[in-house]
Amino acid sequence: MARSALLNVMVQAALKAGKTLSRDFGEVQNLQVSVKGPSDFVSQADIKAERTVRDELLKARPTYGFLGEESEEIIGTDGAHRWIVDPLDGTTNFLHGIPQFAVSIALERNGEVVAGVVFNPATDELYTAERGGGAFLNDRRIRVAARKVLSDCVVGCGLPHLGRGNHGKFLVELRHVMGEVAGVRRMGAASLDLAYVAAGRLDGFWETALSPWDMAAGLVLIREAGGYSSDMSGGNEIFSTGNVVAGNEYIHRALVETVNRPIPKL
Ligand code: IPD
Ligand code: CA
Ligand code: CA
Repeated sequence: MARSALLNVMVQAALKAGKTLSRDFGEVQNLQVSVKGPSDFVSQADIKAERTVRDELLKARPTYGFLGEESEEIIGTDGAHRWIVDPLDGTTNFLHGIPQFAVSIALERNGEVVAGVVFNPATDELYTAERGGGAFLNDRRIRVAARKVLSDCVVGCGLPHLGRGNHGKFLVELRHVMGEVAGVRRMGAASLDLAYVAAGRLDGFWETALSPWDMAAGLVLIREAGGYSSDMSGGNEIFSTGNVVAGNEYIHRALVETVNRPIPKL
């Protein structure tokens, strides 16, 4: 599988940040028992990972813009290109010693995301995709699952929690979805959830109130793996609403319909 020079730059940046995250993840386990707890350490790990990614990407393409979760946006002199980066997606998992987290890097060109890399250093799984070139898990080509009916499907979701999201609305969505599917999962790192849809591990996924860095890379993976994604009403406003529904052609359509069903009468 041949990667473009740009995709190689993204992969190298993700691997480099992944290496430091991996080391810090080992350290987090020791800190769980300390009085102060590991949260400060984790935010330092997060910031350090973003610096590593930013330095690598901007060294290779100094004129591109950079939007990362942990720092001020850099507006590039090249108006067409922008990196979109989450240096540590799945922070809560990382903090709790759960090996489900990732570095997520996307490249936007003239407003369209054209390449994406999602790397989980804990499992050594590297997902890559670029426009027109297909999607890969390490060196293996991946495709979305082929299941056509929700009753056969395992579907991922995001879950609102203390101080985050619309709990009542989510419970209505969940009530409808769980009544139709074989299983629901909440894995805790949106970039990996989308990568899992691309790899056919999850048949579908929906979540609301996400940020561009949570989704940009994963959405290219899904598109290049033959999948579909939209906002909650089936439209194109994923980034402006922060809401996403994904799956293959059939499951995407079925999920959009299911999450939008009205509140049931009790
Ligand atoms: C979070 C994860 C999580 C999603 C949250 C995101 P973070 O990102 O992707 O799965 O449910 O909405 O904020 O904070 O770990 O980078
Ligand atoms: Ca995130
Ligand atoms: Ca993050």
